[in-house]
Amino acid sequence: MRWEPSGRMEDFRRGCLACRARFSFWGGQLHAVFDSESEEQTLSLGRKLGGFLSRGDVVGIKGELGAGKSVLVRGICEGLGIKQRTRSPSFTFMNRYRGPVDVYHIDLYRIGDPGDLATLGWEEVVYGEAITLIEWAEKLAPFLPPVSIEVDIEVTGEETREIRLAAVAERQKSIIEDVLMTCEQDDERDTGDTRD
Ligand SMILES: Nc1ncnc2c1ncn2[C@@H]1O[C@H](COP(=O)(O)OP(=O)(O)OP(=O)(O)O)[C@@H](O)[C@H]1O
Ligand SMILES: [Mg+2]
Repeated sequence: MRWEPSGRMEDFRRGCLACRARFSFWGGQLHAVFDSESEEQTLSLGRKLGGFLSRGDVVGIKGELGAGKSVLVRGICEGLGIKQRTRSPSFTFMNRYRGPVDVYHIDLYRIGDPGDLATLGWEEVVYGEAITLIEWAEKLAPFLPPVSIEVDIEVTGEETREIRLAAVAERQKSIIEDVLMTCEQDDERDTGDTRD
């Protein structure tokens, strides 16, 4: 069945002139693109996304070195109510943060070949009850569950980033819709735009 944007998405498209976000639909996926102009804006987007995640969700994050993947992870964890400081796992590849829902933070930067992946035990984590956030997710791309939310961070300037969120599964699409809606409210507040 072909996915159609919900009524609120059509309203968003019509009404959100002040937004730093936009969306499109292609390849069976919903894509939402957010412009970030600072680390703080990326953190804030992460907090919003974190606020809508629940058990079993997987977020795969792509982007070059220094793109802001770890900044986004920090925001997501804050949004999830994690009090612990997030720290990129280096030689362990995987950190666990305890919170209302446990979060696994995986960083695959140092993964060399698929053989290394086998030693990680990532399947139990990714298909388990916790929330999993994966930096350098491209290294695990063929194995990620179809319910993942894909994030791609493109560096467009020293402090500017284009952050793309994409999902194919219904519930994950609606998470992205929710994030878009909260961005609309925030941006309108920032610009003093009070249109209905
Ligand atoms: N708009 C922005 N969003 C996020 N980070 C930004 C932005 N502008 C500048 N930065 C800076 O970019 C850097 C991003 O670092 P971060 O560790 O999050 O990148 P990363 O993608 O995780 O890199 P790595 O591949 O090394 O793990 C930080 O120093 C941050 O201050
Ligand atoms: Mg990082």
